[in-house]
Amino acid sequence: MLNVALPKGRLGEKVYDMFERAGFECPSIKEQNRKLIFENPEAGVRYFWVKPSDVAIYVERGAADIGVAGKDILLEYEPAVYELLDLGIGKCRMAVAAPADFVDNPQRALRVATKFSKIAGDYYAGTGRDIDIIHLNGSIEIAPILGLSDVIVDIVETGSTLRENNLKVFESVVPISARLIANKASFKFKNEEIVRAVEGISRLTEEKQ
Ligand code: PRP
Repeated sequence: MLNVALPKGRLGEKVYDMFERAGFECPSIKEQNRKLIFENPEAGVRYFWVKPSDVAIYVERGAADIGVAGKDILLEYEPAVYELLDLGIGKCRMAVAAPADFVDNPQRALRVATKFSKIAGDYYAGTGRDIDIIHLNGSIEIAPILGLSDVIVDIVETGSTLRENNLKVFESVVPISARLIANKASFKFKNEEIVRAVEGISRLTEEKQ
């Protein structure tokens, strides 16, 4: 049985459709209910809906053999998993944003509010800019408006959250998309099933290109 952690939400539904088309169907998952675990013994697959930012934890610790996580989570937490495939969905980017009138003052540390402290730290280490990280858990856009920070490092997808809060992108940090990841031991012991999933899904992503 292949145990698959799916990110709960719209992205997860798209991911399930890819697995289904790759031969890992589980029709009961489409039932409207609050269940979180679904399995289809005939197809040899069991799915769990988990919080998107938790997928990598399930996979790293082997509670799931494979799963789908955003590149943002993989860069931020560096879980010890194999990254097998870029699914080409859930595309967005990590960016530095600030109020339109922001001007950097290199005389003092740049105050950076973010949920992604490691990604932000690595990015500014690369530019050599001295920063002060302010770690927040959400509603990051408020920080520069209230003077808590100078800039934010956050995910930008459509850009509407920034626009509606009068912020604009100053720099792009890294492109993000959904990745298929595998537990290291599972990759060895369930290699055949995992490779079958990777091949089936990569055929779909190639068709799209
Ligand atoms: C993310 C991100 C931005 C928003 C960007 O938040 O933190 O707030 O999406 O998307 P947009 O460019 O399409 O407006 P998310 O909804 O994932 O939740 P969060 O508030 O927990 O960060």
